[in-house]
Amino acid sequence: MSASATLKYRPETRLVHSGTLRSQFGETSEALFLTQGYVYENSAQAEARFKGEDPGYQYSRFANPTVAMFEQRIAEFEGAEASRATATGMAAVTLALMGQVRAGDHVVASKALFGSCLYVVEEYLPRYGVSSTIVDGTDLDQWRAAMRPNTKTVFMETPTNPTLEVVDIAEVSKIAHAAGATVVVDNVFSTPLWQSPLQLGADCVVYSTTKHIDGQGRCLGGVILGTKKFINDNIHIHLRQTGPSMSPFNAWVMLKGLETLPVRVRQQTDSAGKIADALGRHPKVSRLIYPGRPDHPQAAVVKKQMRGGSTLVAFEVVGGKKGAFAFQDALKIVRISNNLGDAKSLITHPATTTHQRITQVQRDELGISDGMVRLSVGLEHPDDLIEDVAVALKAV
Ligand SMILES: Cc1ncc(COP(=O)(O)O)c(C=O)c1O
Repeated sequence: MSASATLKYRPETRLVHSGTLRSQFGETSEALFLTQGYVYENSAQAEARFKGEDPGYQYSRFANPTVAMFEQRIAEFEGAEASRATATGMAAVTLALMGQVRAGDHVVASKALFGSCLYVVEEYLPRYGVSSTIVDGTDLDQWRAAMRPNTKTVFMETPTNPTLEVVDIAEVSKIAHAAGATVVVDNVFSTPLWQSPLQLGADCVVYSTTKHIDGQGRCLGGVILGTKKFINDNIHIHLRQTGPSMSPFNAWVMLKGLETLPVRVRQQTDSAGKIADALGRHPKVSRLIYPGRPDHPQAAVVKKQMRGGSTLVAFEVVGGKKGAFAFQDALKIVRISNNLGDAKSLITHPATTTHQRITQVQRDELGISDGMVRLSVGLEHPDDLIEDVAVALKAV
């Protein structure tokens, strides 16, 4: 169904139907157009297509019908005018930032970022003459102080990985806009179900679709969303010319993933809340962070900007690294993996895996202690998960 035909429906309905381009065969499930190129009726049509005078596809690095279905469906759900899909989440983050800046520009970002995102901001952008300032995302004064006349964009992740710290999107957007900068939000940890950064004032939202949007651990992907103008001016031409495009196969997987996203994420969030409550009372857990609980450090911001909690729970096991390893190794259902958003519950020890590359001082600043683990809650029965966690904590 076209965007105009589905606009009147509720989000869940639109996630099942919008964007569908049904072929002449009338298939129920969206077709996978696994093609690199497209043929033209005649030379004149080829010429017109390249001139942009004839609508239609030319080459799948530029656009593809299956990828277009995914882009339309996620854009509608996010409330964005336009979107472009990318090969991975990191391709989306890199393009969302690189597509906007020129040598001499400045970028401000919160320090609690996924490691590769921090690398892009702190090491990759400066190589091309783009300076960056890293701030504590929860401290609005630091955002204010970091703005310069040449600040082009600000970048944040909220909730953050792995400490689930929450940044106030609306307030940071006001500060950035007052300084003439745009706002890019990595919304991976919240998912489009629980948080809508564009409605809170952001100019661009990025996702690693590898996480909850696929939701079953199969394919890598990313997506960048914003106004038509933002996407046309900053993203489209770079994607087309530099080529970090999403494959049609991955787009098809993501498109089908969107149909079940609300059901899965609701269930996973519900289970995560129950696990958080059980952990909150446990003597072997010295610290628990879960957005949605009144003891979350930014509970007021969570209430203001999120419609639901999280599918992730971060907690500190007593006994430091030894305690965390003993706990992880004793789990039977929950598997050790650095991924998240999967149907399978996954656990990671950030200090020795995802955040191993940064220094101890940086980890201390971010609150990533040696006893901290990050649990991504899957679709197993919550009682089995609570039992698995409780039995494993006995090994600590
Ligand atoms: C918050 C966040 N942003 C971006 C990425 C990068 O996504 P991908 O692995 O699809 O490149 C990840 C991956 O773990 C992530 O957690």
